[in-house]
Amino acid sequence: MPNAIPQHVAIIMDGNGRWAKKQGLLRVQGHEVGVQRVEEIIKAAQEKGIRFLTLYAFSKENWRRPKEEVEFLMGLLSSYLDKKIEVLIKNNCIFNVIGEMGDLAPTLQKKLKQAMETSKHNTGLVVTFALSYSSRREILRACQKIAEQAVRGAIQPSGITEETLSRNLYTADMPDPELLIRTSGEMRISNFLLWQISYAELYITQKFWPEFTRDEFEKALEDYKGRERRFGDTCPGRGSNESSGARAVNGGKT
Ligand code: FPP
Repeated sequence: MPNAIPQHVAIIMDGNGRWAKKQGLLRVQGHEVGVQRVEEIIKAAQEKGIRFLTLYAFSKENWRRPKEEVEFLMGLLSSYLDKKIEVLIKNNCIFNVIGEMGDLAPTLQKKLKQAMETSKHNTGLVVTFALSYSSRREILRACQKIAEQAVRGAIQPSGITEETLSRNLYTADMPDPELLIRTSGEMRISNFLLWQISYAELYITQKFWPEFTRDEFEKALEDYKGRERRFGDTCPGRGSNESSGARAVNGGKT
């Protein structure tokens, strides 16, 4: 039986700079077109009935880029929040952020928190931006939280399970992504959702992010439909049953 539409799609949006260079444009112009694709893919995900869309917008490592580029990206995010978030919220989306939000400028943090607060009672697509995000740091932070609980005697070390760790990640309330898309052909995970993508299907396209249109997104979903998901089992389909593997691999979260 073909896979249905994935509940949770995560995307590493890569290649803005290379796309811009190929067009004879400035890197930052690539990021500008990248924002248009963000809007297009959010809309497409909504229409396809996807429940969670997680976009890697800025990694903890991205702070090492030239100051001007970092400032430009932060400015883009800020103007995206000013101009576009209202529509997203009106369209019943829940806006969410994962990552070390405290690294961002206070004004930006305020806008992000406001968008999260205003949209929290919506019931549609959950759009998560990973900002100043590092998966290793996320796992480390979860370990620290669990260790604190253990020191307080709230949990026994022998009682720590995969579920405990999942519940202490930023993504505690989400199912694990079934599909991870990366644009621009790089064969890397780049410190993104390392724990959560254990059983995700990978889809790597040569298209640069500014070229990743709705049609390209649909191709990725079609490709996913044809994948055989075995969850370590020998029999396809057995593990994807709600009552067994899928729930187990995503920590029982739905
Ligand atoms: C990778 O391209 C992309 C990023 C570092 C950031 C992704 C950002 C956007 C899509 C635009 C901002 C989004 C919002 C919502 C405001 P790259 O610069 O690494 O490309 P390269 O690998 O070709 O240099």
